[in-house]
Parts: sequence; C-alpha cells; structure tokens
Amino acid sequence: MKKVITYGTFDLIHMGHINILRRARALGDHLTVAVSSDDFNTLKHKQAYYSYEDRKEILESLRFVDEVIPECSWDQKIEDIKKYDIDLFVMGGDWEGEFDFLKEYCEVKYLPRTEGISTTKTKTDLSHRNV
Ligand code: CTP
Repeated sequence: MKKVITYGTFDLIHMGHINILRRARALGDHLTVAVSSDDFNTLKHKQAYYSYEDRKEILESLRFVDEVIPECSWDQKIEDIKKYDIDLFVMGGDWEGEFDFLKEYCEVKYLPRTEGISTTKTKTDLSHRNV
C-alpha cells in the first residue's frame, strides 16, 4: 500500500484544496492530511476561521481523505513520515523545493496550485460584499 501525506491549514475549504487532496490521494492508496493546529497557526501568524476540530471533521468527510492528524510544528515531518510509514510527501507548487530535504526519507512531489483561489482571497472577496 502506497501512503501519501500532505500538510496545510485547510480553512474555508475551496476548489484548490479539493484539487490537491484528490490528486494527492490518486498518487497512492491512502492519504493522511496533517492539519495545522490553532496554536501552530498563531505561530505562523495565520488566523483560521474554523477551529482545528472543525477543519479536521470537514476533511475527514471527504472521500479521498483517509486520516487527519494535527500539525503542531515545522519540525514534525520526518517523525510523521517514519511513524505513519509514508511513501510520498505532497505539497502545492507554492512550496517548490522547500521540502527537498525529506527526499532522504520518502518521495517528494509538488503539485501545481489551482489558479485564482485561496482562503485569503475568499476572505478578501467576501469582505468587499454587502451580502
Ligand atoms: N493549494 C492549492 N491551490 C490553491 C490553494 C492551495 O493547491 N489555489 C494547496 C497549497 O499549496 C497547500 C494546500 O493546498 O499545499 C493547503 O493550503 P492552505 O495554505 O491551507 O490554503 P490557501 O488557500 O493557500 O490558504 P491561505 O490563503 O490562508 O494561505
């Protein structure tokens, strides 16, 4: 069984998230999503609209997500890869090259981001609407 892992905040789920999760799952047989905890988001100067528990439950409801674990620090990836027996690490193209050091432990792939959408853009667009 080929096991895949990916990381992110995944707040206000949008088509960019759906696309990367679907494509990541299609590259293997099992997808683990490491979701940034609320404390880790604070550390990254990010404020998610939905709590970690809600983001976890939403992701667990997707048919191409098999398991959700918390991402609590930048440094846990090597440990996760070993602990969850991961074969492939996937991230969006905005992270190209950043995680090449993990190639010592598993395969690493960067998938192209979906154009024109992000959680930040959704928030900004909604803040300019009256309804
Ligand atoms: N992602 C993607 N295409 C998008 C947006 C995100 O492929 N249009 C991917 C990212 O590259 C990352 C994962 O989805 O691998 C989780 O990204 P996240 O940071 O949660 O989403 P963003 O929408 O980029 O959030 P923000 O605007 O808060 O940075």
